[in-house]
Amino acid sequence: MLFHKSHPLKGEITVPGDKSISHRGIMLGALANGTTSITNFLKGADCLSTISCFQKMGIEIEETENEILVHGKGLHGLSAPKEILDAGNSGTTTRLISGILAGQNFSCDLTGDASIQKRPMKRIMTPLSMMGADITSVHNNGCAPLHIKGAPLKGISYQSPVASAQVKSCVLFAGLYADGKTSVTEPFLSRNHSELMLSSFGASVQTCGTTATIEPEPVLTAQKVEVPGDISSAAFFIAAGLLIPGSELLIKNVGINPTRDGILRVCKQMGANLELLNTRTQCGEPVADILVKHSELNGTVIEGDLIPTLIDELPVIAVMAACANGETIIRNAEELKVKESNRLEIIVHHLSEMGCDITGTEDGMIIRGGKPLHGAVLDSHLDHRIAMSFAVAGLVADGETEITNADCVNISYPGFYRDLLR
Ligand code: S3P
Repeated sequence: MLFHKSHPLKGEITVPGDKSISHRGIMLGALANGTTSITNFLKGADCLSTISCFQKMGIEIEETENEILVHGKGLHGLSAPKEILDAGNSGTTTRLISGILAGQNFSCDLTGDASIQKRPMKRIMTPLSMMGADITSVHNNGCAPLHIKGAPLKGISYQSPVASAQVKSCVLFAGLYADGKTSVTEPFLSRNHSELMLSSFGASVQTCGTTATIEPEPVLTAQKVEVPGDISSAAFFIAAGLLIPGSELLIKNVGINPTRDGILRVCKQMGANLELLNTRTQCGEPVADILVKHSELNGTVIEGDLIPTLIDELPVIAVMAACANGETIIRNAEELKVKESNRLEIIVHHLSEMGCDITGTEDGMIIRGGKPLHGAVLDSHLDHRIAMSFAVAGLVADGETEITNADCVNISYPGFYRDLLR
C-alpha cells in the first residue's frame, strides 16, 4: 500500500465497533441464558476467531446484516470441541477464553498464529493454576498452544504483576466457576469492559481502586449489547486530523470509557484542538462524537497509570510525537514488547527510517520531534496497529511511504485504507 502527503481530512467518519467489547459480547452471550443481540459488532478477524471458538463448543451464533445473535446455553452449556480451538492473532481470545475453559468439565487445546505462539501466557497460567486449573503450555515455553483440562476451581485474591485487562478478565471469567469470591488487583487500572459487561449480564462484580472482585455462579441473562465505535480505531483519524493541515473531522459514536481515553488526555496535553460532542452513555459505556481540528502539537511525558489507558494507541501517539515540537518521553510501556509484534522496537526502527530523532529505552522511547518525516518502505510485521500508524505517518511525510504486509489491518479495521484515503 502506498501513501503520499494528504489533502485535508474533512467531514464525518464512523469507525467500526470496539474490539474489546465485541469479544466480550460473544463470550458472555455464550455463557448467558437466552439470546444476546450484539449491534455494531466488529467483524474483524480477531472477533471472528472468538465466534469460531464458541461455535466449536456448540454455541449457535447467527450473523445478520446489522446484528449478531448469540444463542447462549448458560454457564454450564458449552460442549467439548472436536478440534483444536484457534484464536488466530487474538490475544484477547486466547487469554479470556482460557479463563472460561479452566472451569469446564472437559479438556481442550487452544492455539493461534505464529505471533500468538510467541506471546506470554504464563501471566494467565499462574493465576489459573492457583485456582486449581490444569493448564499447560504444550511446548513447555509458556506460550500457546495450551492444553486446558477443566477442573473445580477455588476463589483466589490475585495480585497481578502487570496492568492487563486480558489477565484480569481471564481470572474474573474463571471466577464465575470458582467456589468462592475471586479478586484481581493490578498495579494500575486496565480497561474495565469485562467488569461493566459482567454486571450488566447479572454477575456480582465489585470494584475498588485497582481491585475487581467477582462472586461465583450467577445466572447470566442475555442482553442487548450496542457496541460503541473503537477509540483505538478512532485514534488513527484523531492523529491524521491533528497532523494534516486544514483538517476538520468529526469522528462519530466513539467509546470514551475513562479506562481507554488516555489518547484524548495526551492530545490535550500536547495542545490539540479536540472537542467531545454529544456525550452519552450506551449500555453502560460512555460514548461521544469527537471533533478534531488540525493543531500544532508540543511534546509531552506519557507514563505511569496513563499507560494502560492508551496502550494500543502508543504507536500512533509516537507518530504524533515525531511531528510535534520538542521532546516526548514515553516510560513504563514495556508491555509494548509483547503485543502482536515487538512494537517498541518496530516504532523506533520505522520512525528512524522516516528521519525522526528517536531513541528506544528499556521501557519506552524518547522522541525529539519536529524534524520533517520522509517516505520509506516499512513492513507491518503483520501487526495491524503498526500498519495503520505508519499509514498515518505516510500521509504527513514527504515523498512516498510504502507499507508492506498491509492487509493485517483486517484484524481490527477491515476497510481502514478505504476510510483513510477517501
Ligand atoms: C485488550 C487488552 C489489552 C489490549 C488489547 C485488548 C482487551 O491487552 O492491548 O488490544 O480486550 O482486554 P492487555 O490487557 O494484555 O494489556
